[in-house]
Amino acid sequence: MNTSVSIKDLSLSFGAIDVLKNLDLDVHDGEFLVLLGSSGCGKSTLLNCIAGLLDVSAGQIFIKDRNVTWLEPKDRGIGMVFQSYALYPQMTVAKNLSFGLQVGKVPKPEIDKRVKRASEILQIEPLLKRKPAELSGGQRQRVAIGRALVRDVDVFLFDEPLSNLDAKLRSELRVEIKRLHQSLENTMIYVTHDQIEAMTLADRIAIMRGGVIQQLDEPTTIYNRPVNRYVAGFIGSPSMNFLDGELAQKDGKTIFRSNGVDFDLDGYDGNGPLPTSGKVTLGVRPEHVMVDDEIPSGQEVHQAVVDLEEPMGADNLLWLKHAGHLFTVRVGGNKRYRPGQEIRLAFAMELASVFDAETELRL
Ligand SMILES: Nc1ncnc2c1ncn2[C@@H]1O[C@H](COP(=O)(O)OP(=O)(O)OP(=O)(O)O)[C@@H](O)[C@H]1O
Ligand SMILES: [Mg+2]
Repeated sequence: MNTSVSIKDLSLSFGAIDVLKNLDLDVHDGEFLVLLGSSGCGKSTLLNCIAGLLDVSAGQIFIKDRNVTWLEPKDRGIGMVFQSYALYPQMTVAKNLSFGLQVGKVPKPEIDKRVKRASEILQIEPLLKRKPAELSGGQRQRVAIGRALVRDVDVFLFDEPLSNLDAKLRSELRVEIKRLHQSLENTMIYVTHDQIEAMTLADRIAIMRGGVIQQLDEPTTIYNRPVNRYVAGFIGSPSMNFLDGELAQKDGKTIFRSNGVDFDLDGYDGNGPLPTSGKVTLGVRPEHVMVDDEIPSGQEVHQAVVDLEEPMGADNLLWLKHAGHLFTVRVGGNKRYRPGQEIRLAFAMELASVFDAETELRL
């Protein structure tokens, strides 16, 4: 696979603060790569380094095999869309789209062609004569994306382009961006702290923490085989249940023991054989706990008590008490329970994670 953007041993510090630390990242040609992480982890900083808006402290950046580390932003072959649309308020939509090209001395017929194409793709043709003040937030953001599109570049960089929009518009534009990527097949690097956006848009997700990439993988791999407890807790809503305990031996097998309760680990899909003892955390997602009639025969069954129910329409979220833990379980929306009611449960261990308590790595 060809590499579109390659980042080698990149570091960036603001004064005494090291924001990016020896970061390596290869983005494939045509890939939709999402940088995901909590606020302040360095996502925008990394994107701004790729765009050339920040000078790196050390390391190199290649775009299409060209070392662009010290090139001006305009010479890097990138288009960038920011969270704030930053359109020129006194110019029409058409002018907002074409202005950068005119400054760059692109011939008029070529400008017209590109503006037409971008506005078709983004369905903003009826808006071309309006000014930004006469547009909705979603329309403004589409124009901002259009401004990057007309530049006809190899790589698009998006920094939280949807975060100023309400929930409904966000999900609509999310689909449009996905469609845009499917039709253009450009490389896209997309920053967000919204895990739904990350899961739905990305070919691969890079999860960042403190200026370091924790895991770079396909969304389903990150979801099912998180490398460590941090990644496991960051992805998934409601978040993974964590039960602290230890590994122990029973009937010749390794089991998980927590507050005196034993859990079978049959079927656990780890990175290798589990150690025979030691402090660990068992991680189980709410949707990987089965209750009552969902439990296949042959599974180890536990008895729990319903603490609380949160009906969410399609799903019903149960809070259950068992083995001194309170944890969440996702069941079908038509399954209703009362607080205090007894409930049988089983863990889908083949989808669970066991983390070393000290290193927090998945075992
Ligand atoms: N110009 C600056 N001078 C000093 N520190 C900065 C500067 N810009 C960013 N930082 C710091 O660098 C770290 C990373 O910032 P960055 O903007 O990359 O975070 P982010 O992951 O994009 O977060 P958010 O989700 O809030 O946008 C933060 O701790 C921030 O305070
Ligand atoms: Mg940011």
